[in-house]
Amino acid sequence: MSAVDAVRAASDVRFVRTEGVAAGSGGEGPTGPGVPVPAFAGRVAAVGGSPVRDILAVTSRPEVVNFAGGLPAPELFDTEGIAAAYRDVLAESAGRALQYATTEGEPVLRAALAARYTARGLPTDADGMLVTTGSQQALSLLATALLEPGDVVLVEDPCYLAALQVFRFAGARVVAVPGDEHGVDPQALAELVARTRPKLFYTVPTFQNPTGRTLPAERRAAVASVAARLGLWIVEDDPYGELRFEGERVPWIAAHPGAEDRTALLGSFSKVMAPGMRLGWLRAPAGLRRACAVAKQAADLHTPTVNQLAAARYLADRDLDAHVVRVAAAYRERRDVMLDGLATALPEGSTWHRPEGGMFLWARLPSSYDTTALLPRVVGHDVAYVPGAPFYAGEPDRSTLRLCFVTQAPGEIREGLRRLGAGLSAARRGACTREV
Ligand SMILES: Cc1ncc(COP(=O)(O)O)c(C=O)c1O
Repeated sequence: MSAVDAVRAASDVRFVRTEGVAAGSGGEGPTGPGVPVPAFAGRVAAVGGSPVRDILAVTSRPEVVNFAGGLPAPELFDTEGIAAAYRDVLAESAGRALQYATTEGEPVLRAALAARYTARGLPTDADGMLVTTGSQQALSLLATALLEPGDVVLVEDPCYLAALQVFRFAGARVVAVPGDEHGVDPQALAELVARTRPKLFYTVPTFQNPTGRTLPAERRAAVASVAARLGLWIVEDDPYGELRFEGERVPWIAAHPGAEDRTALLGSFSKVMAPGMRLGWLRAPAGLRRACAVAKQAADLHTPTVNQLAAARYLADRDLDAHVVRVAAAYRERRDVMLDGLATALPEGSTWHRPEGGMFLWARLPSSYDTTALLPRVVGHDVAYVPGAPFYAGEPDRSTLRLCFVTQAPGEIREGLRRLGAGLSAARRGACTREV
């Protein structure tokens, strides 16, 4: 039973199907009274639905404490500041804000993004930036620009779920690179590059989704060196790096010698401004950036002009960094509340780590626990997590799970952990475990 099916089985909430195709439909087209229409493309059947979307659908019941979703805390959005930015843009330049625009993005936003990288020690020109509709689109554009069916893509183990989906949609063979609690092992990466001749290595080196771990500087340098020596694109996805609660910032892989001409660095306003604005970006060498711009033209012509101009206005008039400091302080408190409660909520023998930032905690229960099998019973206690298994491109560790610690206020986190503890114990008594 897949994670999605487990969640479905756990709830009688009806699923909203916007795409007209359900996961596992086998690639058959919809049927009706007339002659059947031709089948969906094979890739739809091959990849199936998004477990994340379906889990979010189940856990949107208001009574569920949703540790699964990965949603930024809405009460911390700077609603007033963002509203003022939209108001000013529409008052002063509605004709431009509501008009079609260039595919690469609004020059004023590209310049502001480039200046932020330059100020953080990564010299960048406005021309070096492509604005995307969320960083998720940047992943799709890179897949279109770089991947042929059958190409090998190397990923972390475990890996961001929706990136796995993008690469699989492109027909890639996705191979997991072994690592440890600090992230990917550069030696294992080098061996796999030599053996599988991949097109690219995809990594979330800072406060990774799902594990929350951060790749140390020396491993980043080693990854850059492997890419330079063996010929490899690096896709460095960094939506969480600014959400640091403690410790020192670690320079991007893109900043290390050897990586300059072969790294696509992805960023996003989703976790620091608001995900509903759907604003992301890609910093990449000219040839790759141009290829992505052509792919973007085919995808959506450009990212909404009004959102780009409002974000640029916000950056000009407000202090985004000060806002991020406030958000990080609140998230830090929520992380600590969750860390404090885990020893009681999770069964004896469980382990977890302490992320220095970001949004996620990754826990491993004793090996007899199967978190996918347990999920329906736990959701029955009105709390949700994401089982670890779908995040693995290779052999999954079925005793793992991801908890998002930022969406709820501290009191709700405590209540959610109480339910999680109760749900896991009840499920355990119901023997949703594996023989080992
Ligand atoms: C690692 C990673 N990359 C990309 C994204 C997509 O973010 P967005 O498209 O909102 O910028 C997410 C969202 O959760 C993520 O965790």
